[in-house]
Amino acid sequence: RTLKIKMQCRSDIHRLNAPFLAIYESLVPAEEEKAQQKQLLALLERLVCKEWPKARLYLYGSCASSFGVSRSDIDVCLAIEDGDINKSEILLRLADILQSDNLQNVQALTRARVPIVKLMDPVTGISCDICINNVLAVINTKLLRDYAQIDARLRQLAFIVKHWAKSRGVNETYQGTLSSYAYVIMCIHFLQQRRPAILPCLQEMEPTYSVTVDDIECAFFDQVGKLCDFGSRNKETIAQLVWAFFNYWAYRHDYANSVISVRTGSIISKQTKDWTRRIGNDRHLICIEDPFEVSHDLGRVVDKYSIKVLREEFERAADIMQYDPNPCVKLFEPY
Ligand code: GTP
Ligand code: MG
Repeated sequence: RTLKIKMQCRSDIHRLNAPFLAIYESLVPAEEEKAQQKQLLALLERLVCKEWPKARLYLYGSCASSFGVSRSDIDVCLAIEDGDINKSEILLRLADILQSDNLQNVQALTRARVPIVKLMDPVTGISCDICINNVLAVINTKLLRDYAQIDARLRQLAFIVKHWAKSRGVNETYQGTLSSYAYVIMCIHFLQQRRPAILPCLQEMEPTYSVTVDDIECAFFDQVGKLCDFGSRNKETIAQLVWAFFNYWAYRHDYANSVISVRTGSIISKQTKDWTRRIGNDRHLICIEDPFEVSHDLGRVVDKYSIKVLREEFERAADIMQYDPNPCVKLFEPY
């Protein structure tokens, strides 16, 4: 490990830029797909408004944050007046309505951590999850989308990392590996840490956007149009960044003591967060602070088996990026 910490990036790294960019381009959804998602949302809006005239639908998740690869599911939040609502009843009623309109595979999952209705649109084949009043998710989606507009390399890196994670089977929270959301946060943090920095820390800047949700104040600078040359002093290319990202998570991150924090644009210690030991099911083996729910470790799903799998995959990826003659193939080989 000590040897590898001193590892220099391979000298032919620039040769890998074009193939990585080609992979990124192949993952970007076509305009037609975006249009189909909008149509499905409009259909859902009509159905929902018939039943609950004051309700509104918001897109969140990767299709709204611009981190969605082609053929992703869409995530929708039904915002409905507070008061005495019973989420399960609403979800069951919603499932009935959707089913009567010929949407397919309609299922109400009322006992899930985030209760949802799932459905599939038979016309476009698009799948969709609808949750209720998950306003924080709509706001963290906006934060991700705003970061994506500052420097194109964030979206490129995140698509490649997500594609790698899906190919290697380490994007499965129910198996103790990380969510797509966690990987995007890791990419943002990584680009905040480059020198010169490629991304700023929007939550440390003078807020131009501020809302309070569930007693959590969400405030950040969102006039990102003013930041479009922020990263221009850093000339690193996507191939170098992919190399450095995996090298960081394989050999440089201090798993025993560090928490990555996009909120502060820095690394903070596990000790200051009291994340040094297992509490309930939260083991804190890889610590990724949620930007708004700061007591929430996005790595909480990782257990003593899956941390090994994850770290071995980071090491495999780092070694491929360093030594393999054709990393763009090997990196994404199915596990
Ligand atoms: P793909 O569907 O794989 O493309 O990714 P996605 O960006 O839709 O990610 P994911 O399914 O992991 O999460 C969807 C959205 O739910 C995210 O964009 C967040 O807004 C929200 N979300 C997911 N996990 C968490 C979490 O642990 N905490 C919080 N606060 N929000 C989360
Ligand atoms: Mg999603």
